[in-house]
Parts: sequence; structure tokens; C-alpha cells
Amino acid sequence: MTVSDQRNRACKKLLADVHAITAKEGLTPSALHAMKLKLVGLAAKKQLFPLADFEMPLAEGRNHPLLVEDNDGHGLYLTISRTGKEAAPHDHGIWCVNAAISGRELHKFFRRTDNMARPGHATVEQVGEVMIEPGSGMAMADHDIHSTVVVGDEPAIGLALYGYALLRFPSVAWYVPQFSSVRTTPSRRHTAMA
Ligand SMILES: [Fe+2]
Repeated sequence: MTVSDQRNRACKKLLADVHAITAKEGLTPSALHAMKLKLVGLAAKKQLFPLADFEMPLAEGRNHPLLVEDNDGHGLYLTISRTGKEAAPHDHGIWCVNAAISGRELHKFFRRTDNMARPGHATVEQVGEVMIEPGSGMAMADHDIHSTVVVGDEPAIGLALYGYALLRFPSVAWYVPQFSSVRTTPSRRHTAMA
């Protein structure tokens, strides 16, 4: 069996495991944790993800689809983020789990502290951080907020599993703490459902 066949089989197994977890207990914090551990296990099989199979982005980052389920299913991607790539605090609107294959990416987690009464206004405060490096990962619920930055001089390569495929993503809220502001990207749910 080729590496790509082995990889496809492993990705199908991961999604089957994920569905078994959520069928049993729904999207609880412990379910997300269990999914993260499964993804960390898959990311540890580095031989399944040879870099020659995944084009390096020219700048910033790139997502390579590994297994995108039909309709409103989940999306599993290999993500490559080049040195120095940063993302400001944001909320995907949908759960996700990440696991590192190689490199290091620092994730900071935030909570919203305003009363959401003023459109465009938002304040957030940091509540934790985790270094995503080989052997580790992270899980976020639907409206958790994180920021990311690649640390060190090698790209951060990892696996990311999202509740919806990226092409069917809901609105993402981006926070700018120094201006106490928030802006949202258009949802892709509407076009995806049409
Ligand atoms: Fe994110």
C-alpha cells in the first residue's frame, strides 16, 4: 500500500473514531479532549505525512485537505504555517482540534469581557496559553477565542480538524484588543447550504 493510501485509511479511521466519540457523548469538553488525543496520535505517525506530498506555502500558511466529509460533515486538513505567521485573537464559531506534526506554534486563549451591547465593540482578556509542538495539541469549543504565532525558525506543520469544512465555515469574529474592537468575516454557511 502506498503512503497516500495508508494516510487516507488513517484519516478515515480518525473520522470514524471522532464520530463514535460524539455519538456517545455529544460535543462535551471531554469529547473534544478525546478527539484531540486521537488527532495527536495520528500526527505522531510522521511517516504518513511526508513533506514532499504537501506543497509549502510561499508565504504565511496553507491548508491541504486530507479528508473533507460530504454535506455538513467535518473537515480534516494538514496545515503549514511559515515562520512568524501570526493570527490575532479570533473565534471560528465552530469547534476545532489541532495537533502538531513538527515545529512549534504558541496558542493563547481569551475570553470576552464586555456585555456585547455595542456593535463592533469587544474587550477580551487572556485566560491561558499552550505551545503546540509534537506530542501536543489543543481543542476549542464553538465560540472559544484563540490567537496563534509560529515560534522558532521552522514552519509549524500540523493537523487540524474542524466541525465544518473550511468552505462551509460560519462567520469568524476577529478581535483587536488594542482598539477594543471586533469585526466578522461573512459566513460561508449560506452559500454552502444553497
Ligand atoms: Fe483559529
